[in-house]
Amino acid sequence: MFSQLPPGFRFGTSTAAYQIEGAAHEDGKGPSIWDTFTAEPGRIKDGSTGDVACDHYHRWEEDVALLGRLGARGYRFSVSWPRIQPDGRGPANPRGLAFYDRLVDGLLEVGVQPMVTLYHWDLPQALEDDGGWLNRDTIDRFAEYAHIVGEALGDRVEHWVPINEPNVVTLLGYGMGMHAPGKALLFDSLPVAHHLLVAHGRATVALREHGATSVGCANNHAPIWPASDSDADVGAAKLFDALWNGMFAEPMLLGRYPADLAPLMEDLVQEGDVADLRQPLDFYGVNYYNPMKVAATADDAPMPFELLELLGYPTTDFGWPIVPDALREWLILFRARYRAALPPIYITESGCSYADGPDADGVVDDQRRIDYLEAHVEAVATAIQRGVDIRGYYTWSLMDNFEWAEGYTQRFGLVHVDYDTQVRTPKKSFQWYADLVAAQPQTE
Ligand code: NOJ
Repeated sequence: MFSQLPPGFRFGTSTAAYQIEGAAHEDGKGPSIWDTFTAEPGRIKDGSTGDVACDHYHRWEEDVALLGRLGARGYRFSVSWPRIQPDGRGPANPRGLAFYDRLVDGLLEVGVQPMVTLYHWDLPQALEDDGGWLNRDTIDRFAEYAHIVGEALGDRVEHWVPINEPNVVTLLGYGMGMHAPGKALLFDSLPVAHHLLVAHGRATVALREHGATSVGCANNHAPIWPASDSDADVGAAKLFDALWNGMFAEPMLLGRYPADLAPLMEDLVQEGDVADLRQPLDFYGVNYYNPMKVAATADDAPMPFELLELLGYPTTDFGWPIVPDALREWLILFRARYRAALPPIYITESGCSYADGPDADGVVDDQRRIDYLEAHVEAVATAIQRGVDIRGYYTWSLMDNFEWAEGYTQRFGLVHVDYDTQVRTPKKSFQWYADLVAAQPQTE
């Protein structure tokens, strides 16, 4: 069925704390910016919140059992910062830490290796009240938090990701206001990017001090296609590419900002920052969904680029174009860009939203997800054959969950969740993925 994947290639699934845990105000957890944001009318499409979500905080044993059944060796989840430090500073909340301690042990018992994300967007609200990621102090706070989690879990966690999709945090959270904390600062959001980068580096150092041997990243990447070959559109696409694909990859891998951004960032860079942020990565995590089409805007527009709908491709139920070839091409291009500076790649997220639910017999026939995943794994296999060192593929997501500004209207899971009853129903794609995983030769 597939081109050969290397022995030991790691399959996994991914989730994030705010999207699945619920228990938003339990066991000493403090409020996060997503608790605040979702409480504001009009922010979330269906008016929902992550207060309950998949209730994973209480049902984690059932979910770990599902992971065991799936058989994929990897599971990526995130730790909720305000569960550990309710105000984002000071001593750890033991009940919060105990949850992740149990979870990690539970995963290991069923043969699943954890990949832990420290920050998947749920900043403690108390830190946002002091400026959030616009405030340089948040770097120190994050390093302190990384020390706490590293000390507690560092002996058992295989892979670490300090910050998920820092470009999305910067551009959607602080640049455009579509995500928490809902600020639309346009280019004035760029300090956030610099602070996230230094925070990533400082957290990496902290984790290694506690025995972590594999620390990477999970950066969202998308091929950026100009709307036409006019100089204006090509220029706009190049600038957007620097913001979306280069703003974090280039400093992490080469210790410098892309040329298009350097003039905008130079005032932010303080002594020691470059050394801090350019920590050698043990792996480079790529979250991939689809390519984006970019056009130039009129001279008086607030931003010099705009995103256009990419027509001519089939789409998921989210309306996102399905272009597996773009993943293959992008991986090959990315390697060509960074060559020896690039560590082994993991696909830390790849997946699709389809609305399929249980039929009269309780079967969730999501053949379209199977087709999607098959094509994207094949794209990865082809990139490997072309010389790109890719070690794993983690699909987003284990289960349907809270999809940020879209609330519960988009379903990305291999497992269907009925939000009224919290009943989990593995979809057809779950069994397909289990069979795929079982068919892979393993080295360990
Ligand atoms: C990337 C994000 O990391 C994840 O939280 C989100 O649900 C998926 N993309 C799908 O949009």
